[in-house]
This record gives sequence, C-alpha cells and structure tokens, in this order.
Amino acid sequence: MATVELHNVGKRFGTVQVLRSIDLAVEEGEFLVLVGPSGCGKSTLLRIIAGLDEVDEGDVMIAGTRVNDVAPAKRGIAMVFQSYALYPHMNLYDNMAFGLRRQDKTAAEIDTAVRDAARLLDIEHLLDRRPKALSGGQRQRVAIGRAIVRNPSVFLFDEPLSNLDAALRVRMRYEFAKLHERLGTTTVYVTHDQVEAMTLADRIAILDRGAIQQLGTPEDLYERPATRFVAGFIGSPRMNFIEGTLAKTSEGFAVQASGGTALPVSIDLTAAKPGDPVTLGIRPEHLQLSNEGLVAEVALVEWLGNVRFAYLSTIVSDEPLIMQMTAEVDLSQGQQITVSAPAADCHLFDSDGSAIARSGYDPGTLAA
Ligand SMILES: Nc1ncnc2c1ncn2[C@@H]1O[C@H](COP(=O)(O)OP(=O)(O)OP(=O)(O)O)[C@@H](O)[C@H]1O
Ligand SMILES: [Mg+2]
Repeated sequence: MATVELHNVGKRFGTVQVLRSIDLAVEEGEFLVLVGPSGCGKSTLLRIIAGLDEVDEGDVMIAGTRVNDVAPAKRGIAMVFQSYALYPHMNLYDNMAFGLRRQDKTAAEIDTAVRDAARLLDIEHLLDRRPKALSGGQRQRVAIGRAIVRNPSVFLFDEPLSNLDAALRVRMRYEFAKLHERLGTTTVYVTHDQVEAMTLADRIAILDRGAIQQLGTPEDLYERPATRFVAGFIGSPRMNFIEGTLAKTSEGFAVQASGGTALPVSIDLTAAKPGDPVTLGIRPEHLQLSNEGLVAEVALVEWLGNVRFAYLSTIVSDEPLIMQMTAEVDLSQGQQITVSAPAADCHLFDSDGSAIARSGYDPGTLAA
C-alpha cells in the first residue's frame, strides 16, 4: 500500500495540452475512480502514474518519493489495461508467472504467488489452459491475477470491465469490491460506467478536458455537484436542466423559465441576485406531481421493471424532462400534468456553470 500524489502535473502531446495542473492525492488503501468524457485524459493520467508516459510539468510521488525519473518496473505498480494483453501462446500459469520470472524469484516463490492469486480469483482449475480457451470474464481475472502476483503497492485499472457483457460486469464489480476489501491495495480505477464508479469508489475524480472538475465521495458528487458539468455527468438518467432567470418572490427565490413558469428554488440566496441568468437542475427522482408548477405533457412512459420514467414535454426546455415515477403515480402518454420539485432538492448554476451556494447546500469546492 502506498499513497499516490500528483503535484501540478501537465502533459502535452505535440501542441495539444492533454492534462493541465493536475493536483491529486490518493490516500493509502484508497479506491479512487477516475471518470470523464472520452478523450479527457484518463488513460494518460494512469500512464503517467505508471511511468509509461513522462510528464512535461509537475511531480509524481509514490509513497512520498518523487518518481518522475523512476522506471515503470521500479515504481511498485501493476496496471491492468482494457485489452487484457495476455500472451496467447502461454497457459494461464505462465501468463501469471511471466513477470515474476524476470525478477529474482525462486521457482517456489513464484509458484506460491501464482497459486495464491489463482485461488483468490477462483481460476485455479484453469491454470493449464491458454487464453483462447477462456471466457471474457476468466481472461479478465487472469489479467488481474498477473497484477496481483507482483504484490504491487498500487493498482491501476483502465476500464477493466468494458469488454464484458452486462451480467458479467455486475459479477466482476462485486469481485473488485471484495478483492479490494481483502488486499486493501491503493487503487486508481478508470471507468465509463456510472454504477461502477458510484459503488466501487471511496472518492471519484471527474476529469474534463484535462482538468479535474471535482473530487469527492460519490454522495458529494451526486448531491453537491460543484458545476453543471459534474451535475450532468453523474447520475443516470441525467439531471434535467431548465434555463431561466432568478426572481424574488414573497417566499424567497424562484427560477423564471421561458413561458412565465416560476419554480421555487430557495428561501435564502446570497450568492446571486434577481435577474441573474441561471440554470435550474432537477434530478428525475425529485420531479413530482403538484398543484402548481410546470405544465407538462407526458410524451412517453418507459417501464424498466423495477422503475418507470416519464418523459415530459414542456415549453421550458427543448429536450424532454425526465421524471422518475413513484409506485403510486400512474401516468399515460398524452396526459397533461403539473410538476414541481422541492426547493431543497433543486440545484442552481450560474451562467459560467458553477453551482450557486445557499443555506443547506454547499456545492463542494471546485478543483483548481
Ligand atoms: N501518444 C499520443 N499522441 C498524441 N495524442 C495522444 C496520445 N495519447 C493520447 N493522446 C490524446 O490525448 C487525449 C487524451 O487521451 P486519453 O487516452 O488519455 O483519453 P481518455 O480519457 O482515456 O479517453 P477514453 O475514455 O476514450 O479512453 C486525447 O485527445 C488523445 O487523442
Ligand atoms: Mg482511455
């Protein structure tokens, strides 16, 4: 186990600035998940920690030591890539032993390490097979096994489950959680999958165009997004956004959307003033039927077995608003309804996309 720190790390490929002033401290034993849109620099960040790419600026520290000039093999790190990169001509045993044989290890030490890892991953009975005779999930476990046998102080995973089908992903997600519980190894894990991020992470870092937008626990990011970008990125279905201006009412503040609809958002607001352009954010589970509020027509009802969503067309937004239907609510296509959301559950963003603070809502600090 070791800490991983990045201080003011910058990376360019040619003239393109891929990472900019990244400051990140991963604690010992922490499971940190990196998310962000395609091309935002997640893999590059992992490769920099692993030493496969060099930084242009800043320092990379592992266990408190600067490793900018330390070779990848000497960093105490094991990385698992999205493509498992197993050796096709070797059986599983040799695939897992390969890295150890290049170190000064006795045959007995190697054997113990390989068999221990195989037992942990439940692939002991497959050690004689070659990769092509395995399922995707088994191959994935071998790739993880190969990382485990090296007994690294840090694991780096780059979308390790993205090649698997939905059922296997769920199973492997569980196994990742259990593995981390048992080994407690400091981990940085890249994923595109919301559920993986929310369930596995101690903390999530959201990267956008090479900069960290927000770093926090899954709850922090979901409940107190610092920016509109984070609010829209975390959560599925996505948060609804309504553009409007801030207006003072007798009870507090409301967002005046186009068409004259006003939705109450706060009773006390000091960080913004009436007339300011704002974006109102409401998660699907917070939209509810009410006597006054926003008039909407049900455009579609989506039934997903355990949950139903209503797509609502309104004059305040070109895109349909998505409302999660509670068990007692029954709506059908074409129905006219009125919806609103409790003020305490609404999110407000200024014209730059930064969350507006108010009492009971501290949107979390923006990363530098
Ligand atoms: N070796 C390279 N040479 C030039 N540009 C590169 C190189 N590697 C990555 N890039 C560019 O750097 C940016 C970040 O790439 P990176 O692979 O880190 O993104 P990512 O967040 O992992 O994306 P994805 O989610 O699609 O895997 C991209 O614009 C990519 O085209
Ligand atoms: Mg990538």
